[in-house]
Amino acid sequence: MSDAKVHSVTPEWAERAFIDWDKYQEMYARSVEDPNGFWGEQAQRIDWIKPFTKVKNTSYDYHNVSIKWFEDGTLNASVNCIDRHLADRADQVAIIWEGDEPSDDKHITYRQLHEYVCRLANVMKAHGVKKGDRVTIYMPMIPEAAYAMLACARIGAIHSVVFGGFSPDSLANRIEDCRSDFVITSDEGVRGGRKIPLKANTDKAIERAEKDGASVRNVLVVKRTGGDVAMKEGRDLWYHEEIEKVEADCPPEEMGAEDPLFILYTSGSTGKPKGVMHTTGGYMVYTSITHQYVFDYHDGDIYWCTADVGWVTGHSYIVYGPLANGATTLMFEGVPNYPSGSRFWEVCDKHGVNIFYTAPTAIRALMGAGDEAVTKTSRKSLRLLGSVGEPINPEAWEWYYRVVGEERCPVVDTWWQTETGGILITPLPGAIAQKPGSATKPFFGVQPAVVDNEGNLLEGATEGNLVILDSWPGQMRTVYGDHDRFVQTYFATYKGNYFTGDGCRRDADGDYWITGRVDDVLNVSGHRMGTAEVESALVAHPKVSEAAVVGYPHNIKGQGIYCYVTLMAGEEPTDELKKELRNWVRSEIGPIASPDLIQFAPGLPKTRSGKIMRRILRKIAEDDFSNLGDTSTLAEPAVVDDLVEHRQNRA
Ligand code: WTA
Repeated sequence: MSDAKVHSVTPEWAERAFIDWDKYQEMYARSVEDPNGFWGEQAQRIDWIKPFTKVKNTSYDYHNVSIKWFEDGTLNASVNCIDRHLADRADQVAIIWEGDEPSDDKHITYRQLHEYVCRLANVMKAHGVKKGDRVTIYMPMIPEAAYAMLACARIGAIHSVVFGGFSPDSLANRIEDCRSDFVITSDEGVRGGRKIPLKANTDKAIERAEKDGASVRNVLVVKRTGGDVAMKEGRDLWYHEEIEKVEADCPPEEMGAEDPLFILYTSGSTGKPKGVMHTTGGYMVYTSITHQYVFDYHDGDIYWCTADVGWVTGHSYIVYGPLANGATTLMFEGVPNYPSGSRFWEVCDKHGVNIFYTAPTAIRALMGAGDEAVTKTSRKSLRLLGSVGEPINPEAWEWYYRVVGEERCPVVDTWWQTETGGILITPLPGAIAQKPGSATKPFFGVQPAVVDNEGNLLEGATEGNLVILDSWPGQMRTVYGDHDRFVQTYFATYKGNYFTGDGCRRDADGDYWITGRVDDVLNVSGHRMGTAEVESALVAHPKVSEAAVVGYPHNIKGQGIYCYVTLMAGEEPTDELKKELRNWVRSEIGPIASPDLIQFAPGLPKTRSGKIMRRILRKIAEDDFSNLGDTSTLAEPAVVDDLVEHRQNRA
């Protein structure tokens, strides 16, 4: 793509930003040539209880994958996010909360944050939660979700946040997998004027999990809507009552740098979601440094990331990174189009937001609603825009830049993953020219490379699979309870390298263009989902005999979910049944997994050994069936004609 548009760094930005091009080159070179020196210095941005003497101790050797950073240091993450700011900025706002209704907001100072987090930590302690215990957090986007995460960090409990849009079954699986016996939830959530029955879902999930041998001692319930909920005697506790019974101060637990901070479940190409485990020291250093430099965060800036705390973006760039930097971080409970399509920009004006970070799917949806909803707002406070979660198409990038940012704000397209803990590839705003659609260049300490399918390193301008050659402090350490799965998933495909699962192109300037997943992971509206998860939900339906799920390009969502379903003998393929299956998947996984297109297929294309040929199914789903490649190896080549004839996605 030599004809790619380039937006050079303006002199003004080179001047104001922490990092300009010369500094980037100098720091980058040092970060890869002398990682111990570089990260040893950078880690001073964090307060350590006991200083580390060792910096990097990592091995990508397939037979001995082991990742440790700052391993003999001790610290507490909540102290880094709260206590250390009290001397200088106790009365500065830490969290601005904007509710679902525009009339609803709150400002929480660092002093208040300290008190709320300590009280909640004491409530957990009073009910037996100890260092190393797993606490499941299933909450709407309210400040108590952040308090809960930080309170866990304070006492050394490991939090597992489950997105509030997941179904009771998905929640049950996550409670079971990490054997969590303390759950924090709320009566109901509210989004776009609609209520979500979080406590009722939690009750169902626990019932399911307990049938499978899990045991939940307590459920702590935050009152959000005041809706009617059942409280189970002896197990369920009201947050507002409990916090009154405990002290307003809670001494922090001294944690080793490699003690777990949290588990976050994410989808892979096979099996159940895996518990991505992050530890304390490296994660805090990495989220804090990336938040400062990528968003060029200066003291006093108002920063807003629109993600949900149920995803890694919410962990790293609503809670830990910003709070470690003493920032003012905005938490938004609602959705972009409620009460109107101007909501995002109205919130920017209301709170004077300087830095705004969102997902391409939201940008595309708002772009579709027309410029007027944007241009009627001021947005004068905005200085920098960010994008995350999926590839951003150049049209959406340009619209974001031109209409939302009025060509005044650089756009940082940030590529990263739940596994990476923080941003790995992005244009630093004062240093690196932006190209719409490209995440451009690596952050400090990150060494991306492109390999072919055999694992050979490709040089220069090229295209292939994206790997990372060496570790950075924010990297996940293991899959909770299954280190072998960690090794097999990330280090077995291209031995000696971390495999991202993404494909990419590198252009002649050395800029990276992420082209999307090369495995069976879908990215629907920026939400990660395994095709295998949707398939297993479908085949759990009594009328379904077999199912194959693939992604196809979708204007707003990036990718849509296309399901091929073979019914049990004698079942009628009706529109009613399609609706029933759609609802079924929603209730099995959650609304984010709702199938976009369902095609009833009398047979699926399989090899003679019975393997489903997904390549063919993908092509048909993409409405690109003129060149299906060699179908002669199929057990029954005729099924392909039927699939093409009844395809659902006609241009
Ligand atoms: C995709 C979200 C292109 C990618 C932080 C990755 C992106 C997956 C970008 C991780 C981007 C994320 N450009 N693709 N800027 N950011 N992705 O774990 O496929 O929810 O592997 O982490 O999202 O999704 P996850």
